[in-house]
Amino acid sequence: MRHTIGVSCKWTTVFALLSSLLLLVTPAVAVKEHDFKKCHQSGFCQRNRAYADAAEAQSSTWASPYNIIHDSISFDNGQLKATILKTINPNGDTERFPLTISFHKSGTARVGVDEEKRQNKDITLRHDSQARKERYNEAGSWVLVGGVELDPEARLSHQDESQVNVNYGPDSNHEAVVRLSPFEVDFRRDGASQVKFNDRGLFNMEHWRQKVDNPEPKEGDDDQSTWWDEKFGGNTDTKPRGPESVALDISFPGYEHVYGIPEHTGSLSLKQTRGGEGNHEDPYRLFNSDVFEYVLDSPMTLYGAIPFMQAHRKGSTVGVFWLNAAETWIDIIKSKDSTNPLSLGKGKTSTHTHWMSESGILDVFVFLGPTPRDLTMQYGELTGYTAMPQEFAVAYHQCRWNYISDDDVKDVDRRFDKFKIPYDVIWLDLEYTDDRKYFTWQPDMFADPISMGEQLASHGRNLVVLIDPHIKKVDGWAPSKELIAQKLAVNNKDNEMYEGWCWPGASNWIDCFNPKAIEWWKTLFQYDSFKGTMENTFIWNDMNEPSVFNGPEASMPRDNMHFGGWEHRDIHNLNGLTFHNATFQGMLSRKKGELRRPFILTRSFYSGSQRLGAMWTGDNQAEWGHLEASLPMVLNQGIAGFPFAGADVGGFFGNPEKDLLTRWYQTGIFYPFFRAHAHIDSRRREPYLLGEPYTEIVTQAIRLRYALLPAWYTAFYQANVDGSPIVRPMFWTHPDEEAGFAIDDQLFVGSTGLLAKPIVQQGKESTDIWIPDDEVYYDYFSYEVKKTQKGKHLTVAAPLDSIPLLMRGGHVIPRRDIPRRSAAMMRFDDYTLVATVSKAGTAEGELYVDDGDSFDYEHGQYIHRTFALQDGAFTSIDAEGRDTKAIKAGTWLQQMENVKVDKIVIVGAPASWDSAKALVQSEGESWTTSMQYHKADNGRAAFVTIGRVGARIGHDFTVKPNL
Ligand code: NOJ
Repeated sequence: MRHTIGVSCKWTTVFALLSSLLLLVTPAVAVKEHDFKKCHQSGFCQRNRAYADAAEAQSSTWASPYNIIHDSISFDNGQLKATILKTINPNGDTERFPLTISFHKSGTARVGVDEEKRQNKDITLRHDSQARKERYNEAGSWVLVGGVELDPEARLSHQDESQVNVNYGPDSNHEAVVRLSPFEVDFRRDGASQVKFNDRGLFNMEHWRQKVDNPEPKEGDDDQSTWWDEKFGGNTDTKPRGPESVALDISFPGYEHVYGIPEHTGSLSLKQTRGGEGNHEDPYRLFNSDVFEYVLDSPMTLYGAIPFMQAHRKGSTVGVFWLNAAETWIDIIKSKDSTNPLSLGKGKTSTHTHWMSESGILDVFVFLGPTPRDLTMQYGELTGYTAMPQEFAVAYHQCRWNYISDDDVKDVDRRFDKFKIPYDVIWLDLEYTDDRKYFTWQPDMFADPISMGEQLASHGRNLVVLIDPHIKKVDGWAPSKELIAQKLAVNNKDNEMYEGWCWPGASNWIDCFNPKAIEWWKTLFQYDSFKGTMENTFIWNDMNEPSVFNGPEASMPRDNMHFGGWEHRDIHNLNGLTFHNATFQGMLSRKKGELRRPFILTRSFYSGSQRLGAMWTGDNQAEWGHLEASLPMVLNQGIAGFPFAGADVGGFFGNPEKDLLTRWYQTGIFYPFFRAHAHIDSRRREPYLLGEPYTEIVTQAIRLRYALLPAWYTAFYQANVDGSPIVRPMFWTHPDEEAGFAIDDQLFVGSTGLLAKPIVQQGKESTDIWIPDDEVYYDYFSYEVKKTQKGKHLTVAAPLDSIPLLMRGGHVIPRRDIPRRSAAMMRFDDYTLVATVSKAGTAEGELYVDDGDSFDYEHGQYIHRTFALQDGAFTSIDAEGRDTKAIKAGTWLQQMENVKVDKIVIVGAPASWDSAKALVQSEGESWTTSMQYHKADNGRAAFVTIGRVGARIGHDFTVKPNL
């Protein structure tokens, strides 16, 4: 017997070793969907769906058991408070749920419901758990940065036995009608319902109850099979508080489209989730997960979660933000208004959603728009706007798992130069470390990281290295020792340090909810501590969902314990953000007195992550379908407040064919975050390896990105000040054009009027671009005036060497036309300004530029211009009306004094510009410069090129024809 055990142990070890090796080398196999829960395998999702089914089945008799106690209502200083009573059984027993509705100066409203018994800690926990008794109520402290100032002008305009009305918001045109029995809230704008809570009676807060062992359940008893210990994939979740979900139906009457709630694959306009042709069967799930080889067009969860949804119809956009960090599912159904018999089935469509979270309080914000821009602005006011990036981060990133040595990196760097392909950042994945101990270097392969960093720096380039949240459990390595000694890691349910498996083998996970853990983490990034790093080293945070190879659903057990006594289930979706935040703090404290913008890429994210860096869409595949899927995903990130987004160019798993890789670059140049990346098993695919004509085509695409960097950086600036997406879908730019609401394969770049529709299908040599308005459109490259018609498609030829890219009339696009090795090397190059004349004969545009590195822009050290073409002149003025002469220029601004406007191109220039000379006036002087007028020719627009303009970019100037 002993012998047998011995043998089997040995085989188990061999098997385990083999499997972990296989993990590293096996070629891709499709995602094991069954490794991740479907709704019917998640107790609370299944229960709440069943609740919805019951409500539906008994629609006329269904009564929500939640009623506001009339006498409990109070209203003071923009806040309504009351108690909701839930009838919990036929005997009429009740539980109490305190309700707060806050009305903010920003025009948003916030509805919060907690459970009184748990607020009072009046419950007992199973298994001697030391978890907190309250419902998790701290998500706001990680997520919210503003916008919650109460509105003292909000007023109670009506109150009777059945309802209370509150008027609030801009011009008091918002109204919340709170119904008492059952509890419902109807948010109205200008007298019409826009967002309704509990309209279908699905509001449900599973109140705490004691587990009663009932060996013989009777018919009619609750099915408790998912209430207590819950099993999935061989793991048991011990649930010390039993069932505690929170769910609510939110309806958008008259709204056909809903968008948002990333991260999923699939269309931008979200699908219905209760089955039927073309619909999903399962709700959209938000439970940050390391989904190995994800599937397309699926409501399945991915790495990040932003529970912000916008509903849109012609003339109005409204939305909700569900601030809950636990696992969340969202069902979506649509209904046609059949109340009007004359509508003949063509009535208005409404969207009904059903939100279900495993635990936590109810905390929901309501936005009443009315435009998409209002929504992104208001959401950003709450959760923060995109951080101003490092300028290099907007350029091209070259990554693979792995560049194997410092020599390898230097070689790749040289080859980019040899082929004259610009790039700004080279990345080091996992294998640069010594045995997967982060903050160390593999001593043989990376013997001299500083010389590598210096070679990169000599061309203004940067290095990004991977740092993950799992800390290898190994004796004698300081970070592991310190983490354990100072108790800075996540604990298991018994409050002992949790141990799991990840890349390094046995590991512990830093608990970034713990302020002391953040303080400790910060010290690890100091140049003195992380030797081999320097000013041009930046960070990549991966696996922070967190990914745990041997954990349930490849993550941590939900009953693990975090700082403050919160269970992992309560905070799961915030985990990635807290790690990203700790790294952000680390990057800010690398050296005393060094104040530079961190650049950190994260895989896992939550609302608010936009303040900390960029995200990418994880482990996609080198397949056309994944290329296609990347566009709606990136667009969705943009409208959900986290626009610094991209997908692995080329596809992570597999080896892309050359045409696929080429098309992927032509698409990737339109991702705000533009990085090529590849799996360790894939063949090398740096653009210079492709061979002709592909290398040349890809080089041209990357150079186009570089030429347009001033426009991209300006778009980042706009995201930074008001939350505008960096790449914009049609519904966002043209909210009244219904035919564009479901379009998610073309985009506008910022406010430049550049309209791109990358080719994402194999063998496609032309494409149809949907034209959203009556404006004139020019081909970007040839200046051809396109024969367009509003609401119709325009067919454009797009052989492999061309990118379908139009310029909308009426814009000014800032560019830098000399291709160089890196963005830094272009920093003081002169500008080219391209004006596209609108039908009305005008153009307008913007340029924002700062040092791209420090926070000096917060003290006025930036250039911000508005350009306009009208009344026969092209002008530049300070966009904010500042007296720029009064600004004391720091080093960068002084250097910018030498940066000028080189060329102005006016596409669609009227004949009044037909002159050989232009007159330039700036800073009290005037001079003439040469100008060439090209008459319209064979479909190509007339255009004018004004050479060597010579006006300084930071100063006002006027250019007109010198007739
Ligand atoms: C998973 C990430 O998604 C991938 O990009 C990375 O290359 C591997 N981890 C290895 O670090």
